[in-house]
Amino acid sequence: MKLAVPLLLLSVISAALFAVSAAVTKVPAVYVFGDSTADVGNNNYLSGTDAKADFPHYGVDFPHQTPTGRFSNGYNTIDFLAIHMGFKRSPPPYLAVVNKTHPLILRGRRGVSFASGGSGILDSTGTTITMTKQIQDFAAHESNIASRVTAAVAKGLLSKSVLLISSGGNDVFAFFFATGGNATADQTEQFYNVMITNYTTHLKALYDLGARKFALINVPPVGCCPISRVMHPLGACLDGLNALTKGFNDRVSVLMKNLSSEMEGMKYTIGNSYNVVMNIVSDPAGVGYKDVSSACCGSGKLGAEVMCSPNTTFCTNRNEFLFWDRIHPTQETSEKAGFELYGGASEYASPINLKQLVES
Ligand SMILES: *[C@@H]1O[C@H](CO)[C@@H](O)[C@H](O)[C@H]1NC(C)=O
Ligand SMILES: *[C@@H]1O[C@H](CO)[C@@H](O)[C@H](O)[C@H]1NC(C)=O
Ligand SMILES: *[C@@H]1O[C@H](CO)[C@@H](O)[C@H](O)[C@H]1NC(C)=O
Ligand SMILES: *[C@@H]1O[C@H](CO)[C@@H](O)[C@H](O)[C@H]1NC(C)=O
Ligand SMILES: *[C@@H]1O[C@H](CO)[C@@H](O)[C@H](O)[C@H]1NC(C)=O
Repeated sequence: MKLAVPLLLLSVISAALFAVSAAVTKVPAVYVFGDSTADVGNNNYLSGTDAKADFPHYGVDFPHQTPTGRFSNGYNTIDFLAIHMGFKRSPPPYLAVVNKTHPLILRGRRGVSFASGGSGILDSTGTTITMTKQIQDFAAHESNIASRVTAAVAKGLLSKSVLLISSGGNDVFAFFFATGGNATADQTEQFYNVMITNYTTHLKALYDLGARKFALINVPPVGCCPISRVMHPLGACLDGLNALTKGFNDRVSVLMKNLSSEMEGMKYTIGNSYNVVMNIVSDPAGVGYKDVSSACCGSGKLGAEVMCSPNTTFCTNRNEFLFWDRIHPTQETSEKAGFELYGGASEYASPINLKQLVES
């Protein structure tokens, strides 16, 4: 569509619209990438995947009890991080705004979520929207914005915006189960190398598009999820899976340190969801939890044998559960994580926390 409004005038109007949001939020926009820990409804638009959460009892504690596609009883960790940054909640799913008539100026100008449950850092992980595709969608979104506000304005806004990335858990799960939990040291090393190489490719692509403020969330101890514990004869955490996860997280920390010295103007925080969850698991009562091993929603042993759906039951004391379903945290856990990742000490966010990244 060709607009009659002169380009300059249009730029001024658009820049003003952006400025309004910048005045009430701490950054102009938030862009989100990753898996089900971040998805707010992109997968609702996909068919042929069971990585979905757009039915009850998901969303039972969300406003109006809406199952939005979040893998939670309410808000997820990204929502809480966005709230700390002055937004109402996570930005909307890309697939909900992409074909709207006023797509980018009215909706999505304060950010978009490209995250897709089931995806990983590797394109070979899962059958949903790969990280590669998420970044292509982001590039399309950015060029659409640029066509409305000029490339320079779009780049300026992007450089001040925060990119939240929460991925890696599905790759770790896939590798662990493909090797029956018996991978050799060489196989594990090779897995880490492929993961780091591909993560580097993604981060460089985002940097080349103009992103400067990166907020990564590391992989939680997935060996403690109900779906993992149910494979242990005593329902304990799978230590091998946690060790694999921690090894990956450690390499991501080194990678980011390396990249920050190569990429001029790049700043980052890594939110340590591994430590957040481990600390809850090791002292449940200390943080007011009664159950850190079973799913609130689901059925069978540990609520982990049948996934959460309208066919299963769910607990009433959701604030005393670490896990909502057999993989994902409750809103209560996400709120705790959001608090620590945003403003917490280096145990939970390093080398700086998200608040410091936002204010830098
Ligand atoms: C958006 O529009 C394109 C082109 O018409 C179509 O291929 C695509 O499926 C639409 N996507 C959504 C999520 O509606
Ligand atoms: C990792 O990245 C390389 C280089 O971009 C690519 O060729 C390869 O397909 C990726 N591997 C996976 C498993 O996604
Ligand atoms: C892994 O090791 C266990 C115990 O040594 C063995 O029972 C199992 O068959 C092995 N799994 C695979 C896939 O090799
Ligand atoms: C970080 O940089 C060092 C030194 O160049 C290199 O040996 C190492 O492989 C890099 N590690 C990662 C994870 O990028
Ligand atoms: C719920 O139960 C119905 C009836 O038994 C079944 O057809 C359906 O597939 C079940 N849904 C899920 C998500 O398990």
